[in-house]
Amino acid sequence: MGSLTGTEATFGTSTRDGIDLAIKQINAAGGIKGKKMRVIVIDDQGKSEEAATAVTKLITQDKVSAILGEVGSTRSLAMAPIAQGHHVPMITPSSTAVEVTQKGDFIFRVCFIDPFQGWAMAQFAAKTLKVKKAAILRDVKSDYSVGLANIFTEIFKKLGGEIVMDQSYSGGDADFKSQLTSIKTKNPDVIYVPGYYTEVGLIARQTRELGIKAPLIGGDGWDSAKLTEIGGPALDGSFFSNHYTPDDKSAIVQKFITDFKKDFNQVPDGLAAMGYDAAIVLADAMKRAKSLSGDDIRSALAETKDYQAVTGKITIDKNRDASKAAVVIEIKGGKFVLKETINPPK
Ligand code: PHE
Repeated sequence: MGSLTGTEATFGTSTRDGIDLAIKQINAAGGIKGKKMRVIVIDDQGKSEEAATAVTKLITQDKVSAILGEVGSTRSLAMAPIAQGHHVPMITPSSTAVEVTQKGDFIFRVCFIDPFQGWAMAQFAAKTLKVKKAAILRDVKSDYSVGLANIFTEIFKKLGGEIVMDQSYSGGDADFKSQLTSIKTKNPDVIYVPGYYTEVGLIARQTRELGIKAPLIGGDGWDSAKLTEIGGPALDGSFFSNHYTPDDKSAIVQKFITDFKKDFNQVPDGLAAMGYDAAIVLADAMKRAKSLSGDDIRSALAETKDYQAVTGKITIDKNRDASKAAVVIEIKGGKFVLKETINPPK
């Protein structure tokens, strides 16, 4: 299998590595109903049309039992109707846009959703950072970014905050100076940038070049070693919400890190953890399923309850989503450091 490509390539690489580790362990422990699991990986280059084509091929030609993916919500939204139409269960490890699982009862996720993630960051801004004025810079091409920007706006206002400016860009852009110049005139306390790491790294640098001192805050789309490679010191003192932190001392997280390092020689990021979790949740459902038909795997997935995974205990709810805590990560000297954990509201 060749490499995975696109402006968010590390999302795919990390997810694939996490899945590979899980499958290796599952097969070493005897596989599923006497069979070994096998993964077929397709690079969609971060493009929705390619993602749709890939799913069609996996289902009609390769006859897969289930789909793991995609990461980016816009791509998962392109894939979901196809998986649903063929009654092949699809689990996205990490697409957080609320609409993804609304595509049908064969579509699942093992991560939290953006209404929670956006709420968590609005809480963090209002209550921990104690700021009143926020600006927003959203990627209008990304369902994920738009959803998070909207939720953040709603909750931050409810908490007494004000959105002093709301600007947009399109994924793939490299020059954000005009938006940032407008933002600067409003002198916000923080700038919420719910985008993906390549653009966020560039945005951070240009923010500082324009003399804006306000911290940037964002979401899980920041989670890549490439973020600080691109953004450098401009990101210090900024924060983002995420699914997992290697700072978690629990035995399951530490074992996962040790195993992952053995195979891939690096500390796994959140995407790797979510990929791993999607694969073990699928394997658990396949073991419990009456048969390996799409309908039986689907039913077993829907019954997943209190399954201890790396990123938390997973219970699939009636919307086929998982409700879990979020962590807020601070960027300090180019390192990702756990700042606080935010639990879902009861
Ligand atoms: N949540 C993002 C989306 O839905 C994808 C993502 C997940 C990116 C985790 C980084 C880490 O588009």
